[in-house]
Amino acid sequence: MSKILIREACISDLDRCYEIESIAYAGDESASRGKIGKRIEVYPEGFLVLEFEGKIAGLINSGATDKVQLSDEAFKELTGHDPNGKKIVIMSVAVHPDFQGKGFAGKLINEFIDRMKAMEKAEIFLICQTGLIDMYSSYGFEYIRISESEHGGLDWHEMSLSL
Ligand SMILES: CC(C)(COP(=O)(O)OP(=O)(O)OC[C@H]1O[C@@H](n2cnc3c(N)ncnc32)[C@H](O)[C@@H]1OP(=O)(O)O)[C@@H](O)C(=O)NCCC(=O)NCCS
Repeated sequence: MSKILIREACISDLDRCYEIESIAYAGDESASRGKIGKRIEVYPEGFLVLEFEGKIAGLINSGATDKVQLSDEAFKELTGHDPNGKKIVIMSVAVHPDFQGKGFAGKLINEFIDRMKAMEKAEIFLICQTGLIDMYSSYGFEYIRISESEHGGLDWHEMSLSL
């Protein structure tokens, strides 16, 4: 039996997801418990968790829209989210430090891409820091531009993947 399971999040995962988000992202960058709970409740199809030996080790979450505005902070609380929207905006990709470097982010991203294709979505967007541009390029994302976002006081870059 495989030790790894990737599945949609449910509300009983909230505490662990918040723990991972808070540890993986420094300070201002991490989403609040309330925002994570809302993402699970409103769009579980776009919120995947990776379990390793029965424990959640990482997560990826998102919202759907037809009008992408990557610097829109309100969208992170899913204001403007439309489940029928063809464009997906990834908000968090996080793996608990105890489980980093094992390929789990890659497994989550690839499964996420497969599921979004199956849901007939058109394009996936994200913003990332400079050091992760190469990682996302390796999954097929293309560089768009430097982002207007000053989230957490850092430099962010917009990337997208056509499905
Ligand atoms: C970024 C993060 C999700 C990667 O998780 P992970 O499970 O350790 O990543 P993987 O083991 O699947 O590695 C995937 C690839 O990305 C590379 N990579 C992983 N973390 C990286 C980092 N911080 N910087 C640059 N490259 C990185 C790996 O070397 C690997 O490349 P390879 O396939 O050529 O060996 C994890 O470090 C994390 O949670 N970071 C904090 C939150 C964050 O910054 N998330 C991204 C927001 S856009």
